[in-house]
Amino acid sequence: MSPGRSPPLQPEELDPDPLKQFDRWFEVARMRRSIEIPEAACLSSVGDDGYPDGRIVLLKDRDARGFVFYTNFHSAKGRSLEADPRAALTFYWEKLTRQVRVQGDVERVSEAEADVYFATRSRGSQIGAWASDQSAVLPSREALLERAAEITARHEGERIPRPPHWGGFRVVPHCLEFWQGMPDRLHDRLVYRRVGEEWRVERLHP
Ligand SMILES: Cc1cc2nc3c(=O)[nH]c(=O)nc-3n(C[C@H](O)[C@H](O)[C@H](O)COP(=O)(O)O)c2cc1C
Repeated sequence: MSPGRSPPLQPEELDPDPLKQFDRWFEVARMRRSIEIPEAACLSSVGDDGYPDGRIVLLKDRDARGFVFYTNFHSAKGRSLEADPRAALTFYWEKLTRQVRVQGDVERVSEAEADVYFATRSRGSQIGAWASDQSAVLPSREALLERAAEITARHEGERIPRPPHWGGFRVVPHCLEFWQGMPDRLHDRLVYRRVGEEWRVERLHP
C-alpha cells in the first residue's frame, strides 16, 4: 500500500488510552490477511556491554498493564532485561504504512500466567523450550536434536511442565508513538507520554 491511503491522524480521534489505541491499530493489522505476523515486534534491550540489541519477538498478550511476550530467561535478552529492566518494542505493519513504538519498564509475568500460556503451546514447542539453551554456543545442530529427542523420551506419555527458566516479560509502557506514513514524507507521528496518572499526546515532526 502506498503511503497516505489512511486519513491523517488527528489527536482528537485517538483513544485517550494509548493501549486502547494500540488495540485499534492491532485489530486493523490482524484483519489484513496480507500481514502474516501482525504480532511480531522488534524488542530492544541494552546489554551489559552497554550496546543496544534488537530481535523479533511475538506479542502474546496485551493486558491491562502492557505488552507480554515469552522467552528463555537465560537468553541474552533475558539476562539483559533482568539486569536492566527497560525495553522498547517496535511494530511495523508495512501494508498499512504504520509503525508503533512502545517504551517502558519490564517485569516478569506471574508463574501462573506463564503456566497457562505454556500449556497452550504445541508439544514440539514445549520440548524446544527445554532443549534450547537459548543464546548459548551450540556445537552442532545434531547436538540440539539429540537433546530434544532425550527430552521427548523422558516425558513420553506425560504432560511437559514449563521450564523454570522460561516465561513471560511484560513491557509496561510510559511512552507510545503511533506513526503513519503520509504523502511527501509528511508523515503523522503522535506520541503519548505518561504524566502521573494521565497520558499527554503530542505531535512530532516526522
Ligand atoms: C518472527 C519471529 C518471532 C520470534 N518470536 C520469538 C519469541 O516470541 N520469543 C523468543 O524468545 N524469540 C523469538 N524469536 C527469536 C528471536 O528473534 C531471537 O533470535 C532469540 O530470542 C534469541 O535472542 P537473544 O539471543 O537476543 O536472547 C522470534 C524470531 C522471529 C523471526
